[in-house]
Amino acid sequence: MHRRTLLPALSAAALFVPHVLRAQERVMNLYSSRHYDTDRELYDAFTRQTGVRVRLIEANADQLLERIRAEGTNSPADVLLTVDAGRLARAQEAGLLAPVQSRVLDGRIPAHLRDPEGHWFGFSLRARVVMYDRALGLPPGLVRYEDLAKPEFRGMVSTRSSGNIYSIGWTASMLAANGPEATEAWARGIAANLSRHPQGGDTDQIRAVAAGQGRFAISNTYYLGNLARSQRAEDRAVAERMAVLFPNQGAGDRGTHVNISGAGVLRTAPNREAAVAFLEYLSGPQAQSVFADGNSEYPVVADAQPSAFLRGLGHFRQDPLNAARMAQLSPEALRIMQRAGWR
Ligand SMILES: [Fe+2]
Repeated sequence: MHRRTLLPALSAAALFVPHVLRAQERVMNLYSSRHYDTDRELYDAFTRQTGVRVRLIEANADQLLERIRAEGTNSPADVLLTVDAGRLARAQEAGLLAPVQSRVLDGRIPAHLRDPEGHWFGFSLRARVVMYDRALGLPPGLVRYEDLAKPEFRGMVSTRSSGNIYSIGWTASMLAANGPEATEAWARGIAANLSRHPQGGDTDQIRAVAAGQGRFAISNTYYLGNLARSQRAEDRAVAERMAVLFPNQGAGDRGTHVNISGAGVLRTAPNREAAVAFLEYLSGPQAQSVFADGNSEYPVVADAQPSAFLRGLGHFRQDPLNAARMAQLSPEALRIMQRAGWR
């Protein structure tokens, strides 16, 4: 059998071990809910390095999952790429993903950012932070997520609805840290402190606070990065007004809640070896920087460089809660938020 070595795209780090690929596997089908031009360039670089063409199917995560289910054992899907550990865990629970054992992936991706059984791996990272108008500054007493529920912050918190997957993951991280009773009390405090009925996405929370509606926007970091590099001057002006608090950074505290954008190999993948090679390729330091920057996210590997925008936000410590544990706690987190009256 002919074998060829798969070289990592762009330049290689010493740690990055090439994966061996069978010559007859020339195509890989990538089902992705990402849609960034830089991603396409990365996939093309993978093709140049390996001869494996990446066929890209783009849709939102729910549509992709539905399509894979409908295609059943005939599905051409090799890799599912989507955002949020909660969605990846759903795909896993539906039996769609196959575990992958890869020394490259296990060695490069921190343990809390991948499924312990290898069903999915995080390839970029977003932190859920508090954004505020730098002209107004932060009031004293706000350094932790827990503080957002304090009575002195009535009418100041601008956040998404409880049904949103980011709200659920965030509350699941509170649940893991503080237990159900404290988390329900906290969720009641958040519901009481809302600046308005929860609506819109993270960008809408940032815009609201920039317009003076609420003081604290709860948002993933990349929304600010994407506003900062928007073609529209008014978006860039909003981004310039906002400063970022990374919560729970005090000595001995757990760190800021993070979630992943990640991928797994489908159980029915017709091109499994190419799929694994593709994931390993994405974990290389250069691919990591480009991939993460496509959505203003942090790379997950230590030797990859975050964008200038993210470096400008400063260093922060991550909550080391495993993304799989967070996903497990998500149903209970949602029930707690609903009981607490967080709409
Ligand atoms: Fe998002």
